[in-house]
Amino acid sequence: MEVLRRWLTISMVLMIVQRGEGQPSEDFYVNSCPNLESIVSQQVSTKFSQTFVTVPATLRLFFHGCFVEGCDASVLISSPNGDAEKDAQDNLSLAGDGFDTVIKAKQAVETQCPGVVSCADILALAARDVVVLAGGPSWEVELGRPDGLISQASRVAGNLPEPDFNLVQLNTMFARNGLTQLDMIALSGAHTLGFSHCDRFENRIYSSPIDPTLDPAMHNN
Ligand code: HEM
Repeated sequence: MEVLRRWLTISMVLMIVQRGEGQPSEDFYVNSCPNLESIVSQQVSTKFSQTFVTVPATLRLFFHGCFVEGCDASVLISSPNGDAEKDAQDNLSLAGDGFDTVIKAKQAVETQCPGVVSCADILALAARDVVVLAGGPSWEVELGRPDGLISQASRVAGNLPEPDFNLVQLNTMFARNGLTQLDMIALSGAHTLGFSHCDRFENRIYSSPIDPTLDPAMHNN
């Protein structure tokens, strides 16, 4: 129960990690798009029924989006020059199903409320919805994030945590986003979902075949 409560709290903090703009509020679209939440959750459910990858993909997309420029969906922007946020090395492994989830939800929202709802808010709602679909807790999402207009690959490096970060580096980066060590640990629980490429962690599990002190077979050669 305590863990769930913690999840709720930090998820809400993550939702409002954004720089600059006005006060977010749960009823931001109450008049302009009253069915917003059900439209988004319906689209997310449909996508989820097609592939479970929807869950980790959307959750990680939200995290990576928030830590660079704030939660402004600038991670979704494409550049003809291949130099947008999504093109940065750290974002190349973002699964396409996360982007697709937001695109589908945005298309559905546009049919009912054209030009009203930001992609940033849709991504924040979709991230909440996938956690719920995976059996996690639910929380109210504060809305009203403007979409970012800056999306540059060069602004990603140094703003996302790397798998070889030590505790001080992790704490420092999360603190820059208003999150505590406890928040960082709880949010890392997101890794119960999804997958990782071997090269991101294999050096921490297997002894290196090129290190003769760790691999007797190599040593004998
Ligand atoms: C604490 C620092 C973190 C580090 C160092 C980190 C690092 C990583 C790495 C290396 C991967 C594997 C990527 C790949 O090989 O494709 C990964 C996957 C993932 N991360 Fe993190 N991460 C962190 C925090 C978070 C947070 C805060 C969230 C969300 C709340 C998150 C959500 C995910 C998810 C869902 C996946 C699986 C993606 C998929 O299956 O497509 N991570 N992370």
